[in-house]
Amino acid sequence: MGSLDVLFTPTELGPKTARNRLAMLPMGTRFPVDGLLTDRDNAWHEARAAGGVGLIITGGTVVSSGSAVRERINVEGWRRDNLERMRDKAEAVHAHGALLVAQLLHLGRETAGGQLAGFQVAPSAIRAAGQLFTPAELSVGGYRGS
Ligand SMILES: Cc1cc2nc3c(=O)[nH]c(=O)nc-3n(C[C@H](O)[C@H](O)[C@H](O)COP(=O)(O)O)c2cc1C
Repeated sequence: MGSLDVLFTPTELGPKTARNRLAMLPMGTRFPVDGLLTDRDNAWHEARAAGGVGLIITGGTVVSSGSAVRERINVEGWRRDNLERMRDKAEAVHAHGALLVAQLLHLGRETAGGQLAGFQVAPSAIRAAGQLFTPAELSVGGYRGS
């Protein structure tokens, strides 16, 4: 076996088996529109699966409205109207033999170069370097002041 051949052997990831050890790192495509997955985004992921990679990690999938960026170019994963499209994406990727993982994203006190669409929350009310706003501190029940 050559030194790189191991890359093309299956590997177990918990209960799943990846067909090889090539993983596609998370990359936001900017194809979602207003936080909704589009056919274009799903087709882009399907094409990568058809290319032979073992595991695809999606770009950041926002977990709550408090972390959506104003451009709304991330998949807003908390929304029910995204469920079917996310399922479509998984099925399309699986049909080509690849595994799919959704990268869950909450930006906290960061804004990833843009403005958040909603109210900014983080573990502590400490402004991050280069950011305009101080986030509200999260508590067990939500954020202080809620
Ligand atoms: C267009 C683009 C979008 C990206 N989106 C994400 C993302 O949503 N989440 C993330 O963790 N990293 C993201 N990254 C970072 C990549 O996953 C990767 O860590 C980075 O490109 C460094 O790897 P490389 O040297 O192989 O390019 C993105 C990178 C690019 C180029």
